[in-house]
Amino acid sequence: MNLFWSSMVVSYMDWTSHTMERIPESGTLRMFDLAKKLERNGKKIYHFEVGQPDYPTPDNIAKAGIEAITKGFTRYTPARGIPPLLDAIEDSYKSRNIDIDGSKHVIVTPGAKMALFQGFLSSLDAGDDVLLLAPAWPTYRVMIRTVNAKPVDVCMKPDHTLNEEALKHAIARTVSALIINTPNNPSGGVLTKEDMKVIHDLAMDHDFVVFSDEIYEMLVYEGFKQTSMLEVDPNLERSLIINGFSKTYAMTGWRLGYAIGNEETISNMVRIQQNTTSCATSFVQYAGVEALTGDQSSIERMVQEYQKRRDEITRLFNNIEGVGCINPMGAFYVFPDFSEYGLSSTTLAELILKKIGVCTTPGVAFGAKYDNFLRFSYATSLPEIREGMEKLAEFLPTLL
Ligand SMILES: Cc1ncc(COP(=O)(O)O)c(C=O)c1O
Repeated sequence: MNLFWSSMVVSYMDWTSHTMERIPESGTLRMFDLAKKLERNGKKIYHFEVGQPDYPTPDNIAKAGIEAITKGFTRYTPARGIPPLLDAIEDSYKSRNIDIDGSKHVIVTPGAKMALFQGFLSSLDAGDDVLLLAPAWPTYRVMIRTVNAKPVDVCMKPDHTLNEEALKHAIARTVSALIINTPNNPSGGVLTKEDMKVIHDLAMDHDFVVFSDEIYEMLVYEGFKQTSMLEVDPNLERSLIINGFSKTYAMTGWRLGYAIGNEETISNMVRIQQNTTSCATSFVQYAGVEALTGDQSSIERMVQEYQKRRDEITRLFNNIEGVGCINPMGAFYVFPDFSEYGLSSTTLAELILKKIGVCTTPGVAFGAKYDNFLRFSYATSLPEIREGMEKLAEFLPTLL
């Protein structure tokens, strides 16, 4: 039998689509795989590359999900989402004085990623120019290319604030859309209400759509309040808001996100969902209702802990010669500048992983101009942060 199989010549025709040329492997996952290989060989690895909370999903949310399964909520749901979750999303915005109609302006999706993809698919045409405020999460570029549109980077200022001049310069040409992400992955930088107003005014004057990814909106520090694009564009004339449960409620694996937009955009997205994923997982949507309507104290606890970690990691970076690190206002990332080391971000990331077991994401993944940067996620414990940083503080000066 074995002999028979091994002597068979298997020849597949190549049925890979041309679209696949535009879908590269994820930069973060590549480092993660490398790290796993080293770990299997017994090396201690400090994981600073992972972009997900290190907390478990709060108990009340997990229980609501389990209860929904035992009650038999295991069938398809309306493509738009279950009414109680649409209502809970509506109410969560109403409690912030933002008026939306959950039954018209919201779609629930399997993760914010899916909301983004549906948003792009329903709004962008082949050849469209789409601006990104860089550094930017790599998934945006890949998705934009997947729908055959063209990502164009507009760099933020070195202190991670909006470069209004650069943005105005970029929209002098015709653009179809702008993607903003505040707080930002990878820099942790934020856009202020004034920035959002400037962006919305430009969108009105120059007729482009703003995709506002607000998934980290609750993870903000020092009392900063993140403005939603909905506050600036309450009629959703030029905006599609992307949000989700992964970061705020430590629910990455549950896959639950949503988009808020005008009726036409959302009904287009509902059509895509009907014909692709059908709906977000039924019982996960019930867990989402509990997340939004139940006890919110876990958010505050997480934010307080993240702020401690942020302060510590930034302080430790700024003690290392040749590294510049801004203390950012949101998310759970820092994006230090290693220009003085004169190495590409991929070389530096691989070097520190192999030599001292510190795993990070190369800055080049977030834009060509960021090849001197590395992204560190501090969604890992304080002792891990301190140990990993101690290793870095010993090793980095040997490279100068
Ligand atoms: C900026 C940004 N948007 C969206 C997502 C994806 O969220 P979800 O898990 O809901 O798909 C991530 C995850 O890393 C992210 O960093």
